[in-house]
Parts: sequence; C-alpha cells; structure tokens
Amino acid sequence: MAGPYDYPPAHGSSAHLNAPGEKTNARSSFATSMAPKKSRRTLWWVLGALLAVVVILGAVLGGVLGSRASSNNDNSKSNAVNAADGDAAAASSSSSSGSTNANGRSSGTATSSSAAASSTPAGTLVEVVDLPAWNWGQNKSIGVCLGSWLILEKWMLPDWFNETVNAVTPGAGATALDEWSFCEVLGQDGCRTALTEHWDNWITEADFDEMLEYGINHVRLPTGFWAWIPTIEGEPFLNDTALFQNQIEKVLGWAHARGMYVLIDAHGLPGSQNGEQASGHLTKTPSWFGGSADTETPNQIRSDAMVVAMTEFLARTPYRSVVTGLEVINEPRPYTDDQIQQLQNYYARSYTTIQQSAWPVATFISEGYTNLTFFRPFAEERATDPPSLVMVDHPYPGNFPPQDNSQDILSQVCTAGNKYLDYPIPICIDEWSLYTGVKDQGFEKTFYEQQLATWSWSAGGMYWSWRLDTSQQDLAAGIDYSQYSFSTIVRNNSATIPKPSDFNLADTTTGDSVQAYLAGVEGDLTSSCGTAPANAAPYTSGAFPTWTAEVSARSSAQGQTLTATSTTASTTATSRKRAISF
Ligand SMILES: *[C@@H]1O[C@H](CO)[C@@H](O)[C@H](O)[C@H]1NC(C)=O
Ligand SMILES: *[C@@H]1O[C@H](CO)[C@@H](O)[C@H](O)[C@H]1NC(C)=O
Ligand SMILES: *[C@@H]1O[C@H](CO)[C@@H](O)[C@H](O)[C@H]1NC(C)=O
Ligand SMILES: *[C@@H]1O[C@H](CO)[C@@H](O)[C@H](O)[C@H]1NC(C)=O
Ligand SMILES: *[C@@H]1O[C@H](CO)[C@@H](O)[C@H](O)[C@H]1NC(C)=O
Repeated sequence: MAGPYDYPPAHGSSAHLNAPGEKTNARSSFATSMAPKKSRRTLWWVLGALLAVVVILGAVLGGVLGSRASSNNDNSKSNAVNAADGDAAAASSSSSSGSTNANGRSSGTATSSSAAASSTPAGTLVEVVDLPAWNWGQNKSIGVCLGSWLILEKWMLPDWFNETVNAVTPGAGATALDEWSFCEVLGQDGCRTALTEHWDNWITEADFDEMLEYGINHVRLPTGFWAWIPTIEGEPFLNDTALFQNQIEKVLGWAHARGMYVLIDAHGLPGSQNGEQASGHLTKTPSWFGGSADTETPNQIRSDAMVVAMTEFLARTPYRSVVTGLEVINEPRPYTDDQIQQLQNYYARSYTTIQQSAWPVATFISEGYTNLTFFRPFAEERATDPPSLVMVDHPYPGNFPPQDNSQDILSQVCTAGNKYLDYPIPICIDEWSLYTGVKDQGFEKTFYEQQLATWSWSAGGMYWSWRLDTSQQDLAAGIDYSQYSFSTIVRNNSATIPKPSDFNLADTTTGDSVQAYLAGVEGDLTSSCGTAPANAAPYTSGAFPTWTAEVSARSSAQGQTLTATSTTASTTATSRKRAISF
C-alpha cells in the first residue's frame, strides 16, 4: 500500500491504494544451494545420501545408547526418502519442512529454518506431498501479507532502516527511503549482508505458528522483480535471484508443513509501476508505462521475462502445490488510456504464459485505479472452473486519510463488499487492515470480524501486514501505524483477533474448518453486512469452461515423488532477532 514517504500521485483518482515499506532482521546465511543446475542437483543428491547415512547411523547409535525417543525416530525414518527413489525432476530445495504425512500436514516435528550452526545433521531428504488444490471459486483465504520482508518499505521499519544506512553513510537516512537507495548506499555486498540478516530475523518460522493460531490459512508474499530476473546497469538492487528464491522456498516449506497456502506477488516491477516506495523505487519518473498502447516498453518486456522466471520457479519447487496464484503486478498506476491498454496487454501475455507453464496457478490482476467494470470483458473471456484469473482490490475502509467515525467506517465495508457482487471472477481483498483514526480495541475487534466476514463473500483477503516496527521518533511525534501490524495487534490484545481454538478448531487450513471458523465469527459479529449474497461466491461449479491447463498439470503430476532437503531446528536462528518495539 502507499505510505507516508510517497510523493503524492501526479494525477489519477483514488488515493486509496498503495503503501510503502517494512522492516527486517537477520540470521546466518540460509543456504547457497537450490540452483536448478544439473551439477548442483547431483551434488545435493550425493550430500543428501551421505546425510541420510549419517542420520541412520546416528539413530542406530542412539538406540544402542538407549537415549532416544523411539516414536520420533520411527517418524524420521519413515519420512526420509532414499535418494534412489527420488524423482530427478524435483529435488532442488534447501528449505525446511516438517516431516509430512500423507495429507501433506506436519507430523508435529516442525523444523526451524537454519541450515547452519546446529549439532543435528541437516540435509535429510523428505517427501513432499502436494496439498489439496486451492479453488478460488470455493475456498476463502484468510491471509496476511509479509510486507517489507523481501521488498523493503521504509515506513514499516524506519528505525532499523535508518540505523543500517546511517551506519554506512551518516545522515543518508534523510533521503534513503526505499530498497533502491538502501542498496545504493550499502553497495552489493553490504546490501546482501543486511538483507540476509533482515530475511532471517524479520519473519521466522515461529511467526507461521502464530499465524496458524490466529486462523491464517494464506500468506501473500510481495517480491521485487530482482528476485526473479537479473538487474541491469544503473539498478542498485541486490543482483542475486538465487538468494531471494532460497528465501521464497523457505517460507513455502514453512507453509507446507502447516497446510497453509501462499500467493506470490510481484510488488515491484522494472522501472516501477507506480513510483512508490512499495515498488522498491520511490521516484517521480516511473518508467514501467510509456510509449503507445500496443507497444511494450523495455520494462514491460523485462516483466514478461519475470513472469516466465516465476513459472520456472513453480515448475521446480517441490512446494509448488502451496502456491495458489501469481499476482503479476501490484497497484499499477496508469495515467492514460494508452497506459491502461498496455496494462491489459501485459495481463493477457502473463495469463497465457502462466497457463502454458508446467504448473499453472491463478493469475492475479488489479484494476489499476480504473474500475472493475473496465476489466469485466477481459475477465469474462477468461472465466474458468476452477477460476484461473482472480481480481484483487485494496479497499482500506476508513483510511486515506484515517477517519474517526466508526459507524461510517463500518458502512464503508459493506459498500465495498457490494461492489464485488456479480463479477465473473473471484475478487480477493489481498490488502486490508484495521488502520483508521479510531484507536479502540473494542472497535478493532468488530472491524476485523466484519471485514473478515464481508471479504469472504468472494475469495477472502490478506491483511496488510504481518509485521510493522513502529518508529520511536514517529511515536514521539504522535504518528502510530501499529494498526497495520497484525502481530502487534495480537500482542497488545490477543482477544482482538478470533482464534480457531475459540470455536474448538485446530486451524483454518481445510474447507470444513474455514467454514466453521467463519460461521463462528459471524455468530460473534456485532456489525454485519449480512450473509453472503448468492451472486458473490462460491461460483456455481460447471458454469464456466473447465480450467484444463490446471487439470492436466495436476493429473500428470500424480504419482510423482517430490523431495526436499530438510533442515534442523537451530536455536541460534533467532538469537539476534531484533526486539519488537511497540
Ligand atoms: C532517519 O535518519 C535521518 C537522518 O539520517 C533523519 O532525518 C530522520 O528523521 C530519521 N527518521 C527516523 C524515522 O528516525
Ligand atoms: C546481474 O547479474 C547478471 C548475471 O546473473 C549480469 O548479467 C548482470 O549484468 C548483472 N547486473 C548488473 C547491474 O551488474
Ligand atoms: C472505468 O474506467 C474506464 C477506464 O479508465 C473509464 O473509461 C470508465 O469511464 C470508467 N467507468 C466508470 C463507471 O467509472
Ligand atoms: C499497541 O500498544 C502500544 C503500547 O501501548 C501502543 O502505542 C500502540 O498504539 C498499540 N497498537 C495497537 C494496534 O494496539
Ligand atoms: C475448498 O472448498 C471445498 C468446498 O467447500 C472443500 O471441499 C475443500 O476442502 C476446500 N479446499 C481447501 C484447500 O480448503
């Protein structure tokens, strides 16, 4: 979403969507493997086999010494995969995942993310069982965004951001406001070190446990284009796609171990699609759009390559079944009819690329400050069962600017919900929050529940954001963005967000549990927009052509064995974790 350091939009209507940054932390370097190269893969097979031997020897020795818990040992043995049985098309991972049972769920031995500094051998190959397919026409996402994790937005972690750049160039924090200038000040090596530390500490596997506890079944993962394709001359971003993709695969593994799903989001495109810090580059001269309607700009051509790289990643990651969509652009800001046409052309090309890839997932698009009506014909042409195209919206009721009339704010939720009715494809509210001028925990609970229920009329939503570290300087000046931070809200008052356990549910990762959870929330609502109208969702099965690309990819995947290299719990992983400041 747009944030406080952004330049005001030059023109264009709704100031209602966009946001800048977040913050970070660090741990030891995660892994250097995972390149899809054959030689690397072979190396990992060999390492994996060696480590499996070590594990088995360890287990035998442990048994002799009588010092192990037999149940754990059985579990690890039954889930270790003999390298010879593995599918050569699949193993490429350096990520952790718990051991998994036949349903792809963790069997209770969740691992931590560190591959380093542990006395337990890592590297055991574990079988990765596909999660059941997510159906955007039926299933309701209850999600959070990992904002400012893989793409920094300074407003979400200003103290750390300032400290890091000011340590290199004193005073640079006054003008460094985005990831572009962060890496410009730090240089490639400094940027790699600082970002790696941030990635390893800003979000950890413990966060995923907490998400599950609060009913989260989906994570939206904002990324910059530089996570997918190389940078070019003049772009200071960290030029190391493998390092970014290791991190992405790490969180896919964490999600997989818990039965959670992930939406991968291209939040920052080459040249910047909106000029905002959220795109990685705060600039008054964004250059994604430009030229004439039917000619792609160089940055749009690079974005096409980015989409291809995303699909290639999906084709090789053993956690592909966790990914429910690729959002090909975030909050694009076209200013002219030609630019709107360029945006639609980009959507058409991206959709085709994704459909023709080895592991097709839903393509997520945004109306780009135009309106839902404009994209209706485009959506109608691509309406399938299950949906292969999903529209997003970021309504932020009561915000831009922050408002303090709570009744009016609640009625804005219903107005937004009604806007989503009778649309040919699902609409996912993949950014929303509790941030308004009303700072009252009772209201926050009502506002959370009402939005959760209303966004679930269609495809559900994702909270912006999981974490935000309030600046001490901002707080002293009376500026408090902490309502954007899901984790701060639950730490301040755990009763604000309903837990599955409040309704005797373990989590919200299955169809039944989501429905029971949402029914529980509805029962608790003190303000409601009513029950889901029939013309929102679920979409009647059979009303649209079958999504054949997905059906055939899934059926040809039947029987394949996917494997990932496990890592082991490491208590050093969080030892340098920054203290969370409220
Ligand atoms: C960041 O540092 C600059 C000086 O480098 C200062 O002007 C600015 O106020 C600082 N911002 C915050 C949020 O501390
Ligand atoms: C980034 O790395 C690629 C190789 O992966 C290289 O071709 C490209 O020139 C690099 N970009 C910059 C700005 O150095
Ligand atoms: C929707 O957006 C399109 C493109 O900007 C515009 O031409 C049209 O007038 C808009 N329609 C409404 C109802 O605002
Ligand atoms: C959380 O608590 C801190 C400290 O009392 C307060 O400054 C902040 O506004 C609170 N935020 C939320 C969202 O409750
Ligand atoms: C999706 O919804 C259907 C229908 O309610 C349900 O059977 C299925 O389990 C759900 N899938 C997931 C992954 O939640």
